Amino acid sequence: MVRPTTPRTVSLIVLAVAVAFFARLCAADLKLNYYASTCPNVETIVRGVVQQKKDATIRTTGSTIRLFFHDCFVEGCDGSVLIKSTPGNPAERDASDNLSLAFEGFETVLSAKAAVEAACPGQVSCADILALAARDAIADSGGPFYQVELGRLDGLVSNASSVPGQLPEANQTIDQLLEVFKAHGLNMSDMVALSAAHSVGLAHCSKFAYRLYSYQPGQPTDPTLNPNYAAFLRSKCPDGGPDWMVLIDQATPAQFDNQYYRNLQDGGGLLGSDALLYTDNRTRPMVDSWANSTEAFSKAFVNAVVKLGRVGVKSGAQGNIRKQCDVFN
Ligand code: HEM
Ligand SMILES: *[C@@H]1O[C@H](CO)[C@@H](O)[C@H](O)[C@H]1NC(C)=O
Ligand SMILES: *[C@@H]1O[C@H](CO)[C@@H](O)[C@H](O)[C@H]1NC(C)=O
Ligand SMILES: *[C@@H]1O[C@H](CO)[C@@H](O)[C@H](O)[C@H]1NC(C)=O
Ligand SMILES: *[C@@H]1O[C@H](CO)[C@@H](O)[C@H](O)[C@H]1NC(C)=O
Ligand SMILES: *[C@@H]1O[C@H](CO)[C@@H](O)[C@H](O)[C@H]1NC(C)=O
Ligand SMILES: *[C@@H]1O[C@H](CO)[C@@H](O)[C@H](O)[C@H]1NC(C)=O
Repeated sequence: MVRPTTPRTVSLIVLAVAVAFFARLCAADLKLNYYASTCPNVETIVRGVVQQKKDATIRTTGSTIRLFFHDCFVEGCDGSVLIKSTPGNPAERDASDNLSLAFEGFETVLSAKAAVEAACPGQVSCADILALAARDAIADSGGPFYQVELGRLDGLVSNASSVPGQLPEANQTIDQLLEVFKAHGLNMSDMVALSAAHSVGLAHCSKFAYRLYSYQPGQPTDPTLNPNYAAFLRSKCPDGGPDWMVLIDQATPAQFDNQYYRNLQDGGGLLGSDALLYTDNRTRPMVDSWANSTEAFSKAFVNAVVKLGRVGVKSGAQGNIRKQCDVFN
């Protein structure tokens, strides 16, 4: 049945369209080329700094990508992870479960901010610089290149006490991991795609030693670990020994690629959370398909990382543009 269009339905439609329009604006407020007139060279400047830093130390790649992830999962992508603690006021980065963020990521963002400030003072947020630096770290190491939406403001709060529960832990079950991602608006395919960031970087023995020595009563080693790989890891991480670091992807440690998924198929996932993606029958089909196809993987990863960059974005009175990334204005 087709109803006649009354003035009331017309005004309802107008209202609905207006609500949808403003909801979209408020939800993100992000756009490509946000700084076209205020800082047209920002992308070139950030890319140059990331490349320089990567030439100086390979730790740049993993530490910068992970810093972006942690920023977005605690209080949204608002640069709050960059804030330094002050006496009596422990910031996010010093929460006991900051999960050992490496200092190179912080250095990369601070250097990039300094270079951007020299060109266009007071225009570009630290949150956006971190989002760009992470993209460049991914693309510079062979991963997919994508356009970064910009316009995030820097947050006004960074509190160590807001970290617990926001970040995934390597020893959680797949349902717990999915919950953590879902709480940030990311679904199962997003989680499996983003986990490919573990195609670069390093992890401490303490994050996976239980898989080698104390998996469960009567079964010290996680049976989903490839035995040769388990033996190799035992040699790198002696039981009760120092908390050394191990390359997460032994096959192509500095390449951001889908080798990550082929490792999982081979019992070569380093962290418990990696291995589970192949053990669980819901996520295994994604692993199998992305292990096979760089194109399918890239598409899924780009979709997910753009979504990650929209998590909890601040606008208006919720934020500002920091002068210095590790200190509030
Ligand atoms: C699925 C849930 C995840 C868990 C449980 C997890 C956990 C971890 C752990 C325990 C480490 C080792 C840290 C250390 O020992 O120093 C690590 C490293 C890393 N993670 Fe994740 N992570 C997850 C997802 C992600 C995502 C979504 C990204 C980015 C998109 C990411 C990027 C990285 C990178 C790049 C490293 C290497 C860091 C470095 O080299 O300094 N992780 N992760
Ligand atoms: C992480 O937190 C610990 C305290 O738990 C602190 O010593 C360390 O400096 C923090 N890491 C960074 C990069 O801020
Ligand atoms: C940090 O969070 C704690 C607990 O919620 C709160 O008591 C404290 O005031 C917060 N600090 C800042 C600086 O917001
Ligand atoms: C899981 O890992 C976290 C962080 O390393 C640790 O605090 C916690 O005790 C672990 N939980 C279990 C059940 O082993
Ligand atoms: C996750 O969300 C994306 C859209 O961002 C969608 O294409 C994909 O099918 C979703 N995956 C699942 C498992 O719901
Ligand atoms: C996964 O396995 C469980 C039982 O082990 C089964 O009930 C479920 O239907 C399977 N799901 C998929 C997607 O294959
Ligand atoms: C992976 O690729 C091989 C060879 O191209 C093909 O036979 C196989 O069906 C593919 N598997 C999946 C899950 O796409």
